[in-house]
Amino acid sequence: MLYELNVETFQDGNGDGIGDFPGLTARVPYLVDLGVNAVWLQPFYPSPRRDHGYDVTDYKRVDPRFGTLEDFDAFVAAAHDAGIRVLLDVPFNHTSDRHPWFQAARRDPSSPYHAYYVWADTPPEPRSPYLVFPGFQTSNWSYDDASGRYYFHTFYDFMPDLDISNGAVRAEILDVARFWTRRGIDGFRLDALPYLVVDRSRKERLAHPHAFLKEFRAAVTELRPDAALLAEVDKAPDEMRPFFGDGDEMHLLLNFYLDNHLFLGLADERAEPIARAWSELPPIPRGTNWANFLRNHDELSLAQLTSEERTRVFAAFAPDASMRAYERGIRRRLAPMLRGDERRVRQAFSLLFSLPGTPVVFYGDEIGLGDRLDLPERDAVRTPMQWTAERGAGFTDAAPVRPFPSGAYSSVYVNVDAQRRDPASLLNFVRDVIRVYRSHSACGRGKFEPHDVGDPHVLAHEVRDGEDVVYALHNLAGTSREVTFEQSSDARVVLADADTRVVAPGRVALAPRGFVWWAAPSHSTEEAS
Ligand code: GLC
Ligand code: CA
Repeated sequence: MLYELNVETFQDGNGDGIGDFPGLTARVPYLVDLGVNAVWLQPFYPSPRRDHGYDVTDYKRVDPRFGTLEDFDAFVAAAHDAGIRVLLDVPFNHTSDRHPWFQAARRDPSSPYHAYYVWADTPPEPRSPYLVFPGFQTSNWSYDDASGRYYFHTFYDFMPDLDISNGAVRAEILDVARFWTRRGIDGFRLDALPYLVVDRSRKERLAHPHAFLKEFRAAVTELRPDAALLAEVDKAPDEMRPFFGDGDEMHLLLNFYLDNHLFLGLADERAEPIARAWSELPPIPRGTNWANFLRNHDELSLAQLTSEERTRVFAAFAPDASMRAYERGIRRRLAPMLRGDERRVRQAFSLLFSLPGTPVVFYGDEIGLGDRLDLPERDAVRTPMQWTAERGAGFTDAAPVRPFPSGAYSSVYVNVDAQRRDPASLLNFVRDVIRVYRSHSACGRGKFEPHDVGDPHVLAHEVRDGEDVVYALHNLAGTSREVTFEQSSDARVVLADADTRVVAPGRVALAPRGFVWWAAPSHSTEEAS
């Protein structure tokens, strides 16, 4: 399973209020204890951090706030010693406007760097054809007074898009990928991948976009045959499928489609959207998988739902307009979004790990970290990790540069230390789920099959990988339900909430938001990706 974290907000190692690599290295034992076997590091490259580091000024260095390249190497070595793989998040769609390439491009339109970006003397289309951040972005074309030309930006105006149709840009991208791969990392998370190769009007930016992705994959796997490429493709199923190529492009795609329908199922208290979403996913090549998740560092983008469906999810989990962002998403952490109801939070984790794929957990969700709606946009969900009840939450000895949630979500009530000591805590539950998940190969790689137990509130499904099979029931309703669900005779209960009971063979009394898993037979295997 993958654990997504930001070095900036995980652990401060030198008391300046900002997380860093030495701090992160000291927390590797925590990751091991939780059962994490791969981490996704959000961007830590030098950057003005106007978009949390997705606005890069140098792809081949560590921002001095987070340490040195040697500190980075020490973290990778410690992670590897502990059996944890390290994936780097790199935004190649755009750079910061402070990147030396863009600065050179502005100053001199005849410089080769000018052609690294997308320019026009007059915008060839309306200036705001497809805003990713409506309300915070007013255009896709901005005027640059130094060169007297307009530049294109998919995202904020301080993040000009690179022109991937320029061979020199593609060579730079491959060079960056080789640089980090040679340094020993285990793969990448490719940011905003569809925009890199195809624009929103579905115009391909390259004559053969997938040829470049195959070339990228080959460049990485030539140096590191078992490297993994994970990508952000927030698209409908038929538009996601091409990014797996013939098993020679991305290994893993973040499964926005399932994620959206999971929250729809939770909002409607109905199993159908989850089972339906699964059935709509295309078959994928051998050696590839879905990366399933509940939350990440962005708003919970609900772009894959119809507007009626989205309205229902908003009504359930973001009733106040301040909880929403960009007309499509929810800028809340998992626990507060599920109304601080720990039964719901546990059930959400249970669902995530019971569906085939590689689960991705956003740091802090395993302890029910809160959010700060008074912070702008997605900053709401990017507060520091809470380790202890002390001032600074064990994250830092100094005044933290980023504030913590307050009230019921302050570190006094929500922290790793306290939950470690409490066997019934959310943290220990998530640890158990990960353990069960990792000991059954069906969980990661199995084939999903829904079952009809005659109750629309109950999702009944199995995942099967050869002999290894896991059965699960999830009661999405806030009332108890009793259902009949047959498993093979050698199946044993391996996970359940505290109140659900098997009342007779195959007969289960599910608690409100209850769940139960059976497995047969109990093979011990390790998950591959
Ligand atoms: C991706 C990132 C998001 C960022 C954007 C631009 O969607 O997840 O955080 O703002 O790309 O890089
Ligand atoms: Ca620091």
